Amino acid sequence: MIVTIDGPAGAGKSTVAKRLARRLEFEFLDTGAMYRVITLAAMVDGIPWTDIAGLAQLARACRFELQDSRMLLNGNDVSEAIRAPEITQLICNVADPPEVRAALVDRQRDWVAKRDVVTEGRDQGTVAFPDAECKIFLVASPEERAQRRFRELRAKGMDLTYEDVLAMQLDRDQRDERRPVGALRKADDAIEFSTDSLDLDQVVDQLESIVRKRQQELAGASS
Ligand code: C5P
Repeated sequence: MIVTIDGPAGAGKSTVAKRLARRLEFEFLDTGAMYRVITLAAMVDGIPWTDIAGLAQLARACRFELQDSRMLLNGNDVSEAIRAPEITQLICNVADPPEVRAALVDRQRDWVAKRDVVTEGRDQGTVAFPDAECKIFLVASPEERAQRRFRELRAKGMDLTYEDVLAMQLDRDQRDERRPVGALRKADDAIEFSTDSLDLDQVVDQLESIVRKRQQELAGASS
C-alpha cells in the first residue's frame, strides 16, 4: 500500500510521516531529502544551475542512499548538511526543471516498488503515485508553520528572526505552488488534514485511523 503525504513547507510532514510509517510498520520515503541531496551534490561537483542536462544526469546517476531517514551521499552521511538554510534557498534550481523532477520521480517509483510505504513531498499524490491507495494533504496556517520552523532553527543555534523565517516560507510556498510541473497541489482524491492546534500524537493518531479505515475498505472490496 502507498500512503502519500503532500503539503507545504513546515506543515510537519516529515515528522508525521515518519511516525505514521513506524506505527503502520511501513517504510518511510522523504522525497524532499532527494531534492536536497541533489542540490548539495551539484554544489560539490560544481554543476552550474543553468546546466539543466547536467543536473538531470546527476539526478539520474548520483550515488545517494536513504537509510532510515539518514541520507548518504557517496557513502558519507550528509543528513545534517542537506538541511542547511543555504541548501533550502538553492533547492529551486533542482526542484523547478521538469527534467530533474522526472529523474527523481523515476527514482522514487523504483524505491517504492512493491513496498508498503508512507511517502512525503509536494507531488506524491499528483505526479509520482497518482494511483496511491491513500492520499493525505497536510496543511497548517502560515504562522503556525513558521513558528515551528523558527523553533527548530533556533534550537540548532541559527540566528534568524521569526519574520525572516515567515518571509522565506512565503517565498518557498509561492515557488512550490507555481512550478509548471510537480507543483504543490492537493490531488482531487486526497483528504485535506489541518494540523493547527493539534499536537504530534493527535495528528498521527488521526492519520493512522484514516489509513486503517482505508485498509479495511480495500480488504472489503477485494473479498
Ligand atoms: O520537504 P522539504 O522541505 O525537505 O523539501 C525541500 C524542497 O524540495 C521543497 O521546498 C520543494 O521545493 C522541493 N520538493 C519538491 N518535490 C517534492 C519534495 C520536495 O519539489 N516531492
